[in-house]
Amino acid sequence: MNPSSAGHADPEALLALAVATAREAADLVARGRATAAEHVDVKSSPVDVVTAVDTASEELIVGRLLGARPDDGVLGEEGADRAGTSGVRWVIDPIDGTVNFLYDLPAYAVSIAAEVDGEVVAGVVLNVTTAELYTATKGGGAHLSSPGRPDPVRLAGSRPVSLEQTLVATGFGYRVEQRRAQGAVVAQLLPRIRDIRRHGSSALDLCTVATGRLDAYYELDLNPWDHAAGALVAAEAGLVVTGLPGSSFGAPMAIAAAPSIAAPFIDLLVELHSS
Ligand code: IPD
Ligand code: CA
Ligand code: CA
Repeated sequence: MNPSSAGHADPEALLALAVATAREAADLVARGRATAAEHVDVKSSPVDVVTAVDTASEELIVGRLLGARPDDGVLGEEGADRAGTSGVRWVIDPIDGTVNFLYDLPAYAVSIAAEVDGEVVAGVVLNVTTAELYTATKGGGAHLSSPGRPDPVRLAGSRPVSLEQTLVATGFGYRVEQRRAQGAVVAQLLPRIRDIRRHGSSALDLCTVATGRLDAYYELDLNPWDHAAGALVAAEAGLVVTGLPGSSFGAPMAIAAAPSIAAPFIDLLVELHSS
């Protein structure tokens, strides 16, 4: 980090900026819902969509963040990529759950994380339709603020007693080969656990495990913007946030699991991914 900017990289200050920015972006996304289907493009495959609202949300977020902190770097799903000189880089998913957004399924979020020297120290995930706001700072815990509840709730995950009683979420990439392989693993996993959920937003999946409404989540081949903020929320809620043995989180597997079943859950994922 550039020593002159160290005082400006306080995680709480970064979080406050991220929250204010996410709220503005979520308003923009909500206003854009009605016309979402009018400007849709495709990216890595015909099912990987981007709307004009994704692009506008990213532009707003980058504008607000760099307006407040012009020396920072940014990495956003829709193309923002700037190195910066302050040691702080923002990792942005302007809408995580774009397919849900397109269909008006109420599970899409704005996700913003702040890295300092490559480590995520603050993150916010804001569910646009429910206004549930997930926040975390490194070492400061994870919290959920909901409309109508005066105080944020500190998150601590769940405590399933066995794999058979573990409710697992996952997601699928957009490429056909990726999906074939991911589907084969799910088919073998399903008989060994309580059930599977596929919400369509990895950021919300990670935060939902943090609340304890899910017991575990895994997904292959995410991009940094999909998990940067949500993984900090999950880790700060006390979950085991890791990759497969010998690999780091997200490279290529992202796992967040309640500590009570993390070891057998990871063993099972290893078994299924080697068969
Ligand atoms: C996608 C969602 C989805 C996950 C995909 C992501 P997007 O992000 O998070 O749940 O399964 O891997 O690409 O495209 O909606 O930002
Ligand atoms: Ca995403
Ligand atoms: Ca996205």
